[in-house]
Amino acid sequence: MNVLIIGSGGREHALCTSCKKSENINKIFCAPGNAGTDLIAKNIYIDINDFQEITNFVNKNEIEIVIVGPEKPLVDGIVDYLEKNNIKTFGPSKLASKLEGSKIFTKELCDKYNIPTAKFGIFKNSNDANNFVEKCDLPIVVKADGLASGKGVYICNKRDEAEIAIKEIFNGKFGLTNEILIEEFLDGEEMSFFIISDGETYFPFGTAQDHKRVFEGDKGKNTGGMGAYSPSRLENDELNNKIIKKIINPTLKALKDLNTSFKGFLYAGLMIIKNEPFLIEYNVRMGDPECQTILPKLKTDFVKLISACVNKNLNSINLEWHNDKSLCVVLCSKGYPESYENNIEIQNLNKVKLKKNEYIFHAGTKKEKDKILSNGGRVLNFVIRSNNFKNNRETAINLINEINWENGFFRGDIGYKVID
Ligand code: AMP
Ligand code: GLY
Repeated sequence: MNVLIIGSGGREHALCTSCKKSENINKIFCAPGNAGTDLIAKNIYIDINDFQEITNFVNKNEIEIVIVGPEKPLVDGIVDYLEKNNIKTFGPSKLASKLEGSKIFTKELCDKYNIPTAKFGIFKNSNDANNFVEKCDLPIVVKADGLASGKGVYICNKRDEAEIAIKEIFNGKFGLTNEILIEEFLDGEEMSFFIISDGETYFPFGTAQDHKRVFEGDKGKNTGGMGAYSPSRLENDELNNKIIKKIINPTLKALKDLNTSFKGFLYAGLMIIKNEPFLIEYNVRMGDPECQTILPKLKTDFVKLISACVNKNLNSINLEWHNDKSLCVVLCSKGYPESYENNIEIQNLNKVKLKKNEYIFHAGTKKEKDKILSNGGRVLNFVIRSNNFKNNRETAINLINEINWENGFFRGDIGYKVID
């Protein structure tokens, strides 16, 4: 069968790679893709925000399934649009995507269904928000409601920082808004928990811990993710059961009560405090770089799995995994997550010989003639699977050193909590 993958990051290169390994695959298209997807799929340059253009392309190229990588088209309703045109699409509906698209929607849902989360308040103007901050303990967390690429969250250690955050959000830094979310700070350890669902049946789809801060020791600004490892060190049966019972099941029930369901990957960003889970946020897609970290562990045929989801027969699938450990180190452009230069050649990439269970996924890259150029803040992902996290990290770093890209930098301490 032919599939179309929407997106251009490391996550989408990993999705293409998993499709490529499938027994049932014929052609893979990726829109718009990167220099890595170009090696195994046909990159197509259509506007991924133009759902009619995507529909036309799908029909012309006999594409059976569309897999949506990033959140924006999901939140904008791509799945509803394509499905109205009888195109099978892996991803949640526009309504279900509000779990990521509106933090306030999710908080209200948590409140109604008793899902453990940080205590919160929702405010319609800065006066009320500032008055509330006056009475709260510090630190305090101020959040913009909508999608903000991870930037709309302020952890404030002082009240005047919260005041600035409130002002910036109401001034439209993350788009027009008439509401703001203020939360209690949860002090614990983060863990990402994934499920895959066809709308009725679901399976857990691995756990991971990502490293969001730009510098070693979890210092500096937040990024999209500098690396990750799977499984999370926090994972245990008792905790898994609590996550499912207290967080996942009530959320799926809430969606059902809204006359929708969840098809696709659901990513729960959790804070674990004394083996108790609290929901920090939902994402309605795989994480990046968690996807690159987890997918190489999957044994089950990926296209069969996705096909079962869009055909609502996930219960016929026996989900199987490699029970080892996977770790990803992200190579970034110098300057990221602030300003950085693009279009810098990455030499030596073709010379690297990968062994079994070693992967290089492209993220911000593009091909120009026969050269590979940087094209984003997060450029390449080095993923290694073995029985040993330390060995994975060393191998990933050796590969990065082999490439020796002078415009790159990375965190050498990914997985320090399970290694050092
Ligand atoms: P979010 O975009 O909501 O995931 O927030 C980004 C990051 O901010 C999270 O990954 C956490 O590290 C941190 N964060 C968000 N909310 C809280 C909270 N209530 N308490 C502690 N940390 C938080
Ligand atoms: N790695 C965090 C995210 O994908 O949102």
